[in-house]
Amino acid sequence: MTGSGIHGASGGALPNSVRIVEVGPRDGLQNEQGVVPLAAKLSLIDGLVAAGLRTVEAGSFVSPRWVPQMADTDRIVAHFRPSDAVEMPVLVPNLRGLELAKAAGARTVAVFAAATESFSRANLNASRSDSLARLSEVAAAAQGDGMRVRGYVSCAVHCPYEGWVEPGGAAELAASLTDMGCYEVSMCDTTGAASPGRALAMAKAAIAAVPIDRIAVHFHDTFGQALVNTLACLELGISVVDSSVSGLGGCPYSPGAAGNLATEDLVYMLDGLGIATCIDLDALVKAGAQISDVLGRKPASRTALALTSRRSARRIVKDHLSN
Ligand code: HMG
Ligand code: MG
Repeated sequence: MTGSGIHGASGGALPNSVRIVEVGPRDGLQNEQGVVPLAAKLSLIDGLVAAGLRTVEAGSFVSPRWVPQMADTDRIVAHFRPSDAVEMPVLVPNLRGLELAKAAGARTVAVFAAATESFSRANLNASRSDSLARLSEVAAAAQGDGMRVRGYVSCAVHCPYEGWVEPGGAAELAASLTDMGCYEVSMCDTTGAASPGRALAMAKAAIAAVPIDRIAVHFHDTFGQALVNTLACLELGISVVDSSVSGLGGCPYSPGAAGNLATEDLVYMLDGLGIATCIDLDALVKAGAQISDVLGRKPASRTALALTSRRSARRIVKDHLSN
């Protein structure tokens, strides 16, 4: 990838554009204690698309006994009828999930595997090798039906049960997922434990194992490191980033983890770096404010908080965009 000509904090060339994969409706809402009404989910996705997001993960076809919050994903997919203009991946753990996704009209599925044995068992009720064999069947069947398949490597940096993860092991798993035909593999800091040194080690190992244009990064923000970790990875040339509006999220099987990198904060940073995203920040903040109202709390995004609670922040954004 040719750089934007702009250099990051450590002097690395940054990409010209970044594709944001908005995971709020899935990773963001799957961990909510209460049930989020279907209408609120539909209006969230409407708002995200109106803000310019072109990849929005709509939900998951997992066991409703494991994750009841996602039980209405069939209705979401049917409502939006995913198109070429907006890709709406849905998470599937097995062939049953794939069948349900297909029946609802999904065109892209996301499979997920864990770099550690303990997380695989906690999240998928299967060993790493069994889950890989299962995902390989899912990926083959999905591609046979003309669907696109995205991959996730959970615990690419740290595991809530086993601690730090060896970067080479996570990279090897990413290579297995691309070998199955995943068009992109998202390397996930599931617990949000990483700071840039660990994030860089993970990303460098992934780049050595998988073509860089097939790597995405996915940071949870437990320790406030998600944005700086993302910047470090952009400086390596990675140009796909997962994030969640208002910083919603968490995984039910990753105790203590906070939500994802907030999309509003990511967009503010990318705007400032002159990296194209085609996202309307005001519209994004509005979508985040609406779902935060439904959930009864303030957005976790600092950008959203500044824009909604400080009048002077609007002037700052104007200056920011005019540089
Ligand atoms: P299991 O209990 O071993 O499944 O769970 P099973 O095959 O024995 O089936 C048990 C029952 O579930 C059966 O129904 C199946 O039909 C049903 P019953 O006969 O008892 O009535 N079932 C399903 N129903 C709907 N959809 C399905 C499905 N599969 C089985 N797909 C299973 C195994 C994989 C299903 C379970 O462990 C599961 O659903 N896990 C998903 C957990 C999850 O969604 N975690 C959060 C997402 S991952 C994440 O957040 C991380 C990520 O963001 C990246 C990161 O940050 O790391 C992606
Ligand atoms: Mg996640």
